[in-house]
Amino acid sequence: DLNPIDKAKFVAAKRAVDFVQDGMKLGLGTGSTAAWMVRCLAERVRDEGLRVTGVPTSRRTAELATSLGLDVRTLDEVRWLDLTIDGADEFDPNLNLIKGGGAALLQEKIVATASDQMIVIADAAKEVSRLGAFPLPVEVIPFGWQTTKALIEETLVSMDVLNREVSLRMNGERPLVTDEANHILDLHLGRIGNPRQLALVLNQIPGVVENGLFIDICDIVVIGEPDGKVSVRD
Ligand code: A5P
Repeated sequence: DLNPIDKAKFVAAKRAVDFVQDGMKLGLGTGSTAAWMVRCLAERVRDEGLRVTGVPTSRRTAELATSLGLDVRTLDEVRWLDLTIDGADEFDPNLNLIKGGGAALLQEKIVATASDQMIVIADAAKEVSRLGAFPLPVEVIPFGWQTTKALIEETLVSMDVLNREVSLRMNGERPLVTDEANHILDLHLGRIGNPRQLALVLNQIPGVVENGLFIDICDIVVIGEPDGKVSVRD
């Protein structure tokens, strides 16, 4: 028996896996919702003999997919994908996203961009009218990260952003280290007026590798609710 939030994640994941067809090359997202998707996918592979290739977006997902017997490849082996299914921290009415709560945004954005289609799976609580209540993750190179942080803060001032606290994500006593050996700065903005512009401006700052705004990347959001209801937004 699943708790209500896991139930919502599970039903969304299960519905999204219905979009998978035989022979597809798939991007496998990261996080607790995406983990349900990997399990549902492995079940279809086992029960229906579906042949699929999966490119994971993190070490964690690679381990899970491998342990369930999926055919796991690197993006360099596969290059282009048919479909990526991933979770998100927030989605707005335009299906723009904040991702990176699980620190995997860099590989996630590369893999989603390499895919013909991206489906996001989420529980209903992640739907927002405007992005930004969830702190925006920005992946930065460790070298000079405090300077990069100051440059980000200056940029936020110049964009008239009101809330602009920036914090280094920690893993216990130490700065968190991503799969690509970088750090994450979380931008506490409250509300992002112009996500498209912010995404572009952040990536101009030296030391910034990538930000967690996914603009015009997601095609479909599958929303699960604790009572098992699922809706599809596109
Ligand atoms: C990982 O970096 C994130 O982008 C996840 O997709 C996001 O944090 C959603 O995670 P949950 O499914 O665990 O909420």
